Amino acid sequence: MKILSGTSNLRLSKEISKKLKLKLVNTNIKRFSDGEIFIEINENIRGNSVFVIQSTSNPANDNLMELLLVIDALKRSSAKNITAVIPYFGYARQDRKVAPRTSISAKVVANLITNAGASRVVTVDLHAGQIQGFFDMPVDNLFTTPLFAKYIKRKFNNKKLICVSPDVGGVQRTRGLATRIKADLAIIDKRRPKPGQSKVMNIIGSVKGKTCIIVDDIIDSGGTIVNAVDALKKAGAVEVYVFITHAVLSGDAVKKIKNSKINKLIITDTIDTSQKIKNNNKIEVISISSLMSEAIKRIANSNSVSDLFN
Ligand code: R5P
Repeated sequence: MKILSGTSNLRLSKEISKKLKLKLVNTNIKRFSDGEIFIEINENIRGNSVFVIQSTSNPANDNLMELLLVIDALKRSSAKNITAVIPYFGYARQDRKVAPRTSISAKVVANLITNAGASRVVTVDLHAGQIQGFFDMPVDNLFTTPLFAKYIKRKFNNKKLICVSPDVGGVQRTRGLATRIKADLAIIDKRRPKPGQSKVMNIIGSVKGKTCIIVDDIIDSGGTIVNAVDALKKAGAVEVYVFITHAVLSGDAVKKIKNSKINKLIITDTIDTSQKIKNNNKIEVISISSLMSEAIKRIANSNSVSDLFN
């Protein structure tokens, strides 16, 4: 078994390899001056099960291409099997035709990964679970709910909690967390008048006098969360903590969070945000490395992955 890292999130790969007590495979990943990518694997991997860690975060297309080329290099070097470990799966939000004559980009990405030569995919909190069906191979979708529940139980023991889904699509995830921490559930009825804009229409449930825990898979521009926090405060919430798996944080999202009424934003390190959130005491990172390394170990030893979440 070997672990190889792409360049999108080396911090996380190093943490995972440390936990697995395995050195990262020695590679040479370069960009030519025209932007093309060059991959070279500097050690023998013939007959090995190789786990390639690469988030397809911004720049999504470059990071995806790098993943595809690494998989191809491994296939041509006679790796026994190749698992694409994609902590953040970019393009996941384009999982259906939203209008006539639009592409289903998540399916295209799944085809590319398949055709490059991967035999398994491991990812975290997929935007839509059904994306697993875009692959004709095993896909292990890991959940952050147990990590978030542990944090909440440790830090917010004496508070009157309510879990809030920022939109109807996130209800299942939010209900999972609410059940684990034995809290009530509220739902925000969010509309998108235009792509990239969001508007809170209604709050279903009573948040008055309570500490709200918003949970979502992605924070991108920050619009969904900042609007949700404003609406919850207006409806009488005492505090609002936000738990997000994938911190895309595009544009001026970090500034928006800083200026918002959020008490704290808790994110994971599926995307490396270390530079973006430097010196920002409103944002805290929980590492996903223990969960990922344990899942990799279980896959390599043919043990149950779902047991991790029971
Ligand atoms: C949407 O369904 C996702 O779960 C997130 O709520 C969304 O991507 C967040 O985007 P933004 O931060 O730009 O509002």
